[in-house]
Amino acid sequence: MSQDSQTTVFLADYAPFTHRVTQVHLTFRLAPQATRVISKIDFVPNPENADGPFFLHGETLKLIWAKIDGKEVSPHTVEHGITVAIPDGPFTWEAEVEISPETNTALEGLYMSSGMYCTQCEAEGFRKITYYPDRPDVMAPFDIRIESDLPVLLSNGNKTAEGAGWAEWSDPWPKPAYLFALVAGDLVNHPDRFTTRSGREVELNIWVRAPDLKKCAFGMDALKRSMTWDEEVYGREYDLDIFNIVAVDDFNMGAMENKGLNIFNSSAVLASPETATDANFERIEGIIAHEYFHNWTGNRITCRDWFQLCLKEGLTVFRDQQFSGDERSRAVQRINDVLALRGRQFREDNGPLAHPVRPESFVEINNFYTATVYEKGAEVIGMLKRLVGDEGYARALDLYFERHDGEATTIEAWLKVFEDATGRDLSQFKRWYSQAGTPRLAVDECFEDGTYTLTLSQQTPPTPGQPDKQPLVIPVAVGLLSPNGDEVVPTRVLELTEAEQSFTFEGLAAKPVASILRDFSAPVIVERDLSAQDRAFLLAHDTDPFNKWEAGRALAKDVLLRMITEDTAPDAGFLDALKDVARDDSLDPAFRALALGLPGQDDLAQTLFEAGRTPDPLVIHAARQRLRKAIAESLGPVLDVLYDEMAIHGPYQPNAEDAGLRALRQAALGFLSLVDDGARATAQYQAADNMTEQLGALSCLLDIGQAEASLAAFRKQWQGDRLVMDKWFGLQAGLAAPEKTATSIRRLTEDSDFDWKNPNRFRAVMGGLAMNAAGFHDPSGASYALLADWLIRLDPVNPQTTARMVTAFETWRRYDADRQGMMRENLQRLAATPGLSRDTAEMVGRILGD
Ligand code: TRP
Ligand code: ZN
Repeated sequence: MSQDSQTTVFLADYAPFTHRVTQVHLTFRLAPQATRVISKIDFVPNPENADGPFFLHGETLKLIWAKIDGKEVSPHTVEHGITVAIPDGPFTWEAEVEISPETNTALEGLYMSSGMYCTQCEAEGFRKITYYPDRPDVMAPFDIRIESDLPVLLSNGNKTAEGAGWAEWSDPWPKPAYLFALVAGDLVNHPDRFTTRSGREVELNIWVRAPDLKKCAFGMDALKRSMTWDEEVYGREYDLDIFNIVAVDDFNMGAMENKGLNIFNSSAVLASPETATDANFERIEGIIAHEYFHNWTGNRITCRDWFQLCLKEGLTVFRDQQFSGDERSRAVQRINDVLALRGRQFREDNGPLAHPVRPESFVEINNFYTATVYEKGAEVIGMLKRLVGDEGYARALDLYFERHDGEATTIEAWLKVFEDATGRDLSQFKRWYSQAGTPRLAVDECFEDGTYTLTLSQQTPPTPGQPDKQPLVIPVAVGLLSPNGDEVVPTRVLELTEAEQSFTFEGLAAKPVASILRDFSAPVIVERDLSAQDRAFLLAHDTDPFNKWEAGRALAKDVLLRMITEDTAPDAGFLDALKDVARDDSLDPAFRALALGLPGQDDLAQTLFEAGRTPDPLVIHAARQRLRKAIAESLGPVLDVLYDEMAIHGPYQPNAEDAGLRALRQAALGFLSLVDDGARATAQYQAADNMTEQLGALSCLLDIGQAEASLAAFRKQWQGDRLVMDKWFGLQAGLAAPEKTATSIRRLTEDSDFDWKNPNRFRAVMGGLAMNAAGFHDPSGASYALLADWLIRLDPVNPQTTARMVTAFETWRRYDADRQGMMRENLQRLAATPGLSRDTAEMVGRILGD
């Protein structure tokens, strides 16, 4: 077990802090291994918890001196911080501490990356910078002075003064410490301006290292579009004179919404046509929007405690998804969001790490920045909006901003706002926040005398710590099609509140085909016996684009499952239906590209597992390959035409329309490469003037095992670009042939460019390995051992990233006894590692189920 304590924190134990902070002053004297932080903090007693003991968080700090009201004091060190005797009434705390940013490899607190100083404080990193009540319900204005010879010195708020070797910043908006940020470095900026609708002039900057200056334009454009969108759709304006974004190479996640000073993983902001793919552009746009939107949903209104994380994250994800849907194609956005939800959140919700959208306990909060809190949290808001309607939602949000601006609040307060604005009782709906697990929605249909009766029943399987589940409020959007393909009943939202309920539709001339759970109106698994004909009918006729796609996906899944379990040949009816969609040019190319995608390995493995079978990743892989080959053969001529028709003649533009053409072209290329010996991919690789087409071609060549020359050329061309080299590593790890995976990956880790302390590089390789299901589950167990070895090595360096990557093992119970045994052994080996971090120890413990 870990030496770090495994104390569990409970939502039920929440108590307010003993004091309020009225002002924070910090001075930073920056030095790589001996930065001094001098603090002056004004406290006043909090009447809500006047007699608790006074405690300040502080970890890995060297205290130089401390004073209360000017008199030196000697604090008492306790777990996570200090206690000290304090006077009654208001007082001023002052302290000087020393920290070492250069040796801070955990990338939490103040650290160095490529010669620059930067910070990451969410969730509990501020306590590694100075002594402070490091909890989100303590909000205060911060004044910051930075002393350093580096040319660019940034912090939150507005710049108030500067001179040679120093700068001062003042943030007037009270904020929790997790939103504090500081950056110092030799940086250049891509500047712009924005005028808010009430006329405030805002200076915008993206700060980068000089070679990256040419990669900022798209991010800046996305930022301005985000600012406009939040004004137009939510009525929210920016509230400072300056908004800075900084790109950092070493970063544990995507980006961070620090007030007025967003810090981004370089991969989440930097893009140029030559170096970034369409998918990268899309992700960057979404993350820029996400962090900007946090200014209101997260910063102006923040969380009372970390159990309320979904209050800001679920809502902000929902907002960034809305934004991307408005900026691009709403249907395509929805399908992609659902694909991501099923791929990551359903996997989590149906395994040992299942937890509610609002967890009730944790050991390490960093382990709860999950797909459930973020993505399911966003789905819960989408359901709420569907239930109260667009107008009710708008009224509730206005009330939320009006009532809670400047506060640190809770899910209870959020739901109360909806109840007050709409008059609706949300007590049953609230179960979505407390009940873990993916509900199963069983569908039973009956048609008699012109009446169609739809019987829906819900059931949520047990999850760790929650054996019994209650019925939820499930909005089920339904439409009915007549046998000739016309829509006879347009979308209607049924509200399922009981374990089982029937809904009737009268006056129908013929038995309809129902389109159920349109737009994926709830994060549930639909269990419905639908014939292949009916699925093909919906694929051809459904007016709801999500369900149209869903019908095709379900068809493909049925076909694959039969190929896996019965070793059948690929179904001809399916191939015909797919052909019709592929060549239907009334459909958006991006949609057609999605329709040509097949269910992933993990999806199939989970489905087999739930059907009581033991999935074999090699058999699944082989079946997918066989189906891909069959598609290539039977759709060949259609794909060939598509490949030529979708070509864009003209300069690369990252917009959704062009990206859709490229996506469809790439989908065609993926199949065609299986039968043309890589001829088209080789030509495309050589002609490509943008990364989407270059990487697309390379991945096809890798897929058919003919990439050696291109890989070498790619490396030579992109050696100096870290983000592109991440792709080089990631692609090889993800597409390594099953039987050679461990060997190939070991070779990648021996590469002189495998900078394993850089999270992007580590994730490229080890994340690629985890995604390569057939290779990861190689029967020898070599891949399991390789990953575990690397996690053991990374843990003391970067616990956060290690703990996140352990989830590669979360599905271990699905597999056969041999694989289970080997995965368990590796998890136990991790658990037994001396000095294992609290982060990793918690994850391993939960995955093992102890
Ligand atoms: N709040 C950030 C976001 O969702 C995510 C975040 C939490 C984070 N902890 C972090 C980012 C640690 C980087 C490092 O936008
Ligand atoms: Zn966020």
